[in-house]
Amino acid sequence: MRKAVILAGGTGSRLSPITRIINKHLLPVGQYPMIYWSIFKAKEVGIREILILTSREHLSSFIELLGEGKEFGVCLKFATQEQASGIADALSLAKDFVGDEKFLVLLGDNLFEDKLTPFVQQFMKQKQGAFILLKEVAEPKRYGVALINEETKKVTKLLEKPNIEEPAYCVTGIYMYDKSVFSYIERITPSKRGELEITDVNNFYVNEEKMGYDILDNWWIDAGTHDSLFKANCFVFSKKEDVRRAL
Ligand code: G1P
Repeated sequence: MRKAVILAGGTGSRLSPITRIINKHLLPVGQYPMIYWSIFKAKEVGIREILILTSREHLSSFIELLGEGKEFGVCLKFATQEQASGIADALSLAKDFVGDEKFLVLLGDNLFEDKLTPFVQQFMKQKQGAFILLKEVAEPKRYGVALINEETKKVTKLLEKPNIEEPAYCVTGIYMYDKSVFSYIERITPSKRGELEITDVNNFYVNEEKMGYDILDNWWIDAGTHDSLFKANCFVFSKKEDVRRAL
């Protein structure tokens, strides 16, 4: 796999007022801006071509911070989403960058410990389709959730922020796709929250039985709230993880 798309847009409303003037993905996690960790994760699997999608408002900050990616040994490109209209809407901007290749998508506010290499290898063996990574969470209401048939071990349905009280498998913001993702995006309509939902796109793959999945073994967090951003920092500092060591 040669290409990755990192999503770093959105309004970051759950982190207001900090995000009123700073993009969420530029906030510190450990000794680095959050976005560094996604670049590191993509680089770790051998990806060297990365497209960063952000809002027009914050584009100049990203360019100033990251440039063309020399510091990381990768080639960075940027594109902007005019409005925060959802993950699937942002992803549609990656069509030309991706071409016909299979690619990785990372939500820039998802921080995690597992190396992606074995999962990427699994997906590359899949003839076509998509692949998601799951993690059991106590509060599934906050996330996309995967229902799994225990016998066949297949994903049967994905639900966005369902009213489920008990622990369930959350769909993390780590996705892998083939190029058909772009035609599925064209077929979906905005959800109740007015966004083109990645869960609706993923359900096309589920219905066609082309959705692979695996479960993350280690620590994972969506650092989109004050509380989870604090937890992400605690984790990184406790591990003394240094992204530069691995670059
Ligand atoms: C998004 C996705 C959701 C996923 C989550 C992971 O949620 O819509 O399916 O579980 O990212 O971080 P959002 O951050 O837009 O609420």
